[in-house]
Amino acid sequence: MSIGRLMQGKAHADTPGVTIGAPRAYELCGAVCFAGRRNRAFSRLAALSGAESGDRVLDVGCGTGYLTRRMAAVVGPRGTVTGVDPSPSVLAYARRRSGAGQGAACAYREGVAENLDFPDGSYDTVVTSLMLHHLPEELRPAALAEMGRVVRPGGRLLVVEFRPPRGALGRHLVHGGLGHAMSHNRTDLLDGLVTGAGFEIRGSGDVRPWLTYVQAVRPVSRERTDRPSR
Ligand SMILES: C[S@@+](CC[C@H](N)C(=O)[O-])C[C@H]1O[C@@H](n2cnc3c(N)ncnc32)[C@H](O)[C@@H]1O
Repeated sequence: MSIGRLMQGKAHADTPGVTIGAPRAYELCGAVCFAGRRNRAFSRLAALSGAESGDRVLDVGCGTGYLTRRMAAVVGPRGTVTGVDPSPSVLAYARRRSGAGQGAACAYREGVAENLDFPDGSYDTVVTSLMLHHLPEELRPAALAEMGRVVRPGGRLLVVEFRPPRGALGRHLVHGGLGHAMSHNRTDLLDGLVTGAGFEIRGSGDVRPWLTYVQAVRPVSRERTDRPSR
């Protein structure tokens, strides 16, 4: 049995997404897999999100809140950061870890990416890390569309996924260790998912050791596609 499967949570009634049910094991796995570079990698991702002081940020599939807390440091005490995830156990862990600090207060809500319970345009920046591969492929466009709905026109999106290892040894270790996570992880489809949801891509790249990201913005005026053509 893979480590990924051991960390799996109970099925959630509102999503076929694979939840995490063992937050402490997940954190341990994160510490081991990133070999001491997790904080640096996720702090870099928080900076790459483009979020600014005072922003309202949403972290979709926030898990234990590792990126959520780093977003809180970026937006500072005038900002707000909300993490959403279907797994009550990771949310409980995240709440315990997000004490009052220098940054924004973090709030955590149970919910699913493909049906976000937030008003249109209510966030300046939306981030999502390592969540999309937990969704069946056919639900990923709906999740991106929801992120496009809740971010304001001109607002930003950062999507982060595992970068599939290039070497044979790395591929073997990741498939053996994380199982389902990597077998459904098509990072080559990320750009299409992001533009398909109406975002404009502004950048992309890798963050060592294992991550790849896409930066995008929601255009200020969307082209209407429902007008009859002349
Ligand atoms: C690999 S973890 C990533 C957690 C965190 N973002 C991070 O980078 O450490 C994937 C998370 O996606 C969550 N998830 C699964 N299905 C989901 C869904 N339909 N909507 C939102 N999150 C979901 C899982 O519960 C889990 O916490």
